Amino acid sequence: MYVIGGTASTALAERVSRELGNAPFGIPFVKRFPDGELYLRVGGRLNGEDVVLVQSTRTDRDLIELLLLEDAIREAGASRLFVVIPYFGYARQDRSFFPGEPVSARALGKHIEVEADAVVTVDMHSPLTLASFHQPAFEASGIPAIARLLRERPVDVLVSPDKGGLDRVKRMAQLLEKPYISLEKKRIDSEHVELSLPASGVGDLEDKHVVILDDVISTGGTIVEAAKLIKRQRVRSISAACTHGLFLKDAFERIKAVADELYSTDTLDNPAEKASVAPDIAQLLVRECVKA
Ligand code: R5P
Repeated sequence: MYVIGGTASTALAERVSRELGNAPFGIPFVKRFPDGELYLRVGGRLNGEDVVLVQSTRTDRDLIELLLLEDAIREAGASRLFVVIPYFGYARQDRSFFPGEPVSARALGKHIEVEADAVVTVDMHSPLTLASFHQPAFEASGIPAIARLLRERPVDVLVSPDKGGLDRVKRMAQLLEKPYISLEKKRIDSEHVELSLPASGVGDLEDKHVVILDDVISTGGTIVEAAKLIKRQRVRSISAACTHGLFLKDAFERIKAVADELYSTDTLDNPAEKASVAPDIAQLLVRECVKA
């Protein structure tokens, strides 16, 4: 078993290799040609090896690197190739919302899976995308990693900013044995949302340590509005936690202005990265892929 970390996921890939019993780990040599095209080369003895390739696809460049790495690893004679995409870009376009739109997540998945014996991701936005794969596709959860972190922090109530996050917040509430609520979210546009407290079941948030939980923090609009709304309930502290911390533009600073703590897993390199999904990815690989 050999682990290769693409440029977007080098640190996490190394952590996964450690979790896999210090499996040999390598990174590719990557450069750009003068015309902007990517060039890369993988080293190590991959002939006949099972290879785990770890690369998030936050940008289009990351995606091109992933596809080139898959091909390079096959060229090097790898036996089985398990492709781990901790943050799967384009996952939120999981259906055609308006006539003429692509199902972007499915479109990319088709190309990624061609060279893969299995695909592993973390907290995929929608189960529709995993279901569209023809190769075995698995989803690790970011919840256990965040739970390991929150067990060491003060938490009284968990909050999902929208109904879409209800299963996630319920699972966390079970792990931490804490109550939860879900806010009502209305998206105005890609950067603005309106949030309101649910009509019933809020309970008393006064003087409580509240943690808002989301799968992705992108522009930060959702978390900022949720934190402002919760702050009016005279809570003791507000923390925000997510699996995928994109923190576009000034999202990190805007959230830190309204929340006491900000936590993210390491599916993407970011300043709030405090919990690692490496053990969860490694366990899933061993359970579903390596032993299959
Ligand atoms: C939405 O369905 C997701 O769960 C997140 O709430 C959303 O993507 C966060 O985006 P933003 O940080 O831009 O509000």
